[in-house]
Amino acid sequence: MKIGRNDPCWCGSGRKYKNCHSGFDKRIHDLRMEGHEVPTREMIKTPEDIEALREAGKMNTMVLDYAEQFVREGISTEELNVIIDEYTRKLGGIPAPLNYEGYPKSVCISINDVVCHGIPDEHTILSAGDIVNIDCTTIYNGYYGDASRMYCIGEVSEARKKLVQVTKECLDLGLQAVKPWGFLGDVGYAIQQHASANGYSVVREIGGHGIGRGFHEDPWVSHIGRPGQDILLVPGMVFTIEPMINMGKPDVFEDEEDGWTIYTSDGLPSAQYEYTIAVTEDGTEILSR
Ligand code: MF3
Ligand code: CO
Ligand code: CO
Repeated sequence: MKIGRNDPCWCGSGRKYKNCHSGFDKRIHDLRMEGHEVPTREMIKTPEDIEALREAGKMNTMVLDYAEQFVREGISTEELNVIIDEYTRKLGGIPAPLNYEGYPKSVCISINDVVCHGIPDEHTILSAGDIVNIDCTTIYNGYYGDASRMYCIGEVSEARKKLVQVTKECLDLGLQAVKPWGFLGDVGYAIQQHASANGYSVVREIGGHGIGRGFHEDPWVSHIGRPGQDILLVPGMVFTIEPMINMGKPDVFEDEEDGWTIYTSDGLPSAQYEYTIAVTEDGTEILSR
């Protein structure tokens, strides 16, 4: 549907389109004509959406902050699942993973060679030497916040500690590569360069995602890429960056029994960090970390 120049802007500002997003839309149109993939209207959030995503993201960050004190040798991943489920609900949120496409728990906890989507279990106990990812997603007021962090349990080898450190750096370099009117390929390129400079590989099959009133929206966010390629980034886009970095080969496989758990094919460890971020007029804002 074409908006008239004097009609109210699609962003909900109440201003006339010609005085609001018409120049913005023209800039996107011109880049599309130059051959770039450009975001659809659904990928561009209004200021009201962003405020709601900020609240959901903040709550998700609070849940991860709270869970941290319980992450130590001897606790089961199921105990952490219960702690996270109960605290999320206490804050007025909903743990998004529970029943998402049949996922059975309220959080993903992935240890060592589990790349992501590890299912909490009473028999899975955190042990000294483990590297562990906790991936929390919270729904608040209909909007999603999604983030994950790594933990080293007890004495961890230097090699594993370095993998965790470099993975965090990959996320931060990916974030720094996000520029309004830049391209998503810039992000994957930054991540891939830093991983390979350290002798690591990047998981290709699983990526980040747009996020809003839906858990996994477009665009799909690759953690490998080429500068200036992939979709155009514009202010108002909200997505996750969540690189999975492997100590060995990039290949992964899915557990046939549970249909969720992703493992490295070579059995070597993998690490992951995730933020939910918004593209702003002059850079980025981290909505959940
Ligand atoms: N939180 C994961 C992500 O970052 C998705 C987990 S899906 C689930 O996208 F069903 F396993 F929870
Ligand atoms: Co996540
Ligand atoms: Co995510």
